[in-house]
Amino acid sequence: MITTARVTDGWGRSLEHLTDNTCQLAIRRSVAEDAPRIVEVVDTVCAERLFMRTNRYVPTPAWERALRAPDEHLDHVILLAMISERIVGWCQVYPASDDTGDVGIGILKPYREHGIGTVLMTQAIAWAGAQGLARLTADCFVTNARSIHLFQKLGFAIVGRCRFAGDTQDSALLERRL
Ligand SMILES: CC(C)(COP(=O)(O)OP(=O)(O)OC[C@H]1O[C@@H](n2cnc3c(N)ncnc32)[C@H](O)[C@@H]1OP(=O)(O)O)[C@@H](O)C(=O)NCCC(=O)NCCS
Repeated sequence: MITTARVTDGWGRSLEHLTDNTCQLAIRRSVAEDAPRIVEVVDTVCAERLFMRTNRYVPTPAWERALRAPDEHLDHVILLAMISERIVGWCQVYPASDDTGDVGIGILKPYREHGIGTVLMTQAIAWAGAQGLARLTADCFVTNARSIHLFQKLGFAIVGRCRFAGDTQDSALLERRL
């Protein structure tokens, strides 16, 4: 899946000050060669220690499958938000059960609140629907109002709340039917 949109198409709000007027936001599926750059971006967002449950990239089996061999694991996806060939954000969907995918998302700080998360998540939901999944799940800290707003805006509902081992605050559990 490759989607490109000019800034002026209304996919992003006021991206002009981040780019020049000829720049485009592109959303595309990751390829194996992207792996080191994706890890860098994930590490950067995790290192803020505010939004993610780890302070750096953790090579879980799902992440490693999706990063290193995306062509062999078509039930995993990492969608990338690209501006001028730079990775500025990602949204991943990994299998949680036969009919359910688990979603996560992150945008580099300078690129937040310009509509990129909305575009990425919308594409991820479309991908999950096309895969035949029935449900998407996600979790995020209850203090992460921006993320919760984004999920709810795109049809997720809060279905619970829990404290994961090692965390110092609760997470909201979110779910969306497809
Ligand atoms: C959460 C995140 C992915 C959203 O991406 P983004 O590109 O910033 O999101 P968008 O610009 O598309 O949308 C942000 C929305 O949140 C709203 N918002 C911003 N701050 C908010 C707040 N404090 N409370 C509620 N809503 C807020 C914006 O108004 C906008 O809503 P709208 O489109 O209805 O006007 C991004 O901010 C991010 O990477 N944050 C850090 C990492 C993170 O939190 N990841 C998710 C962990 S579960």
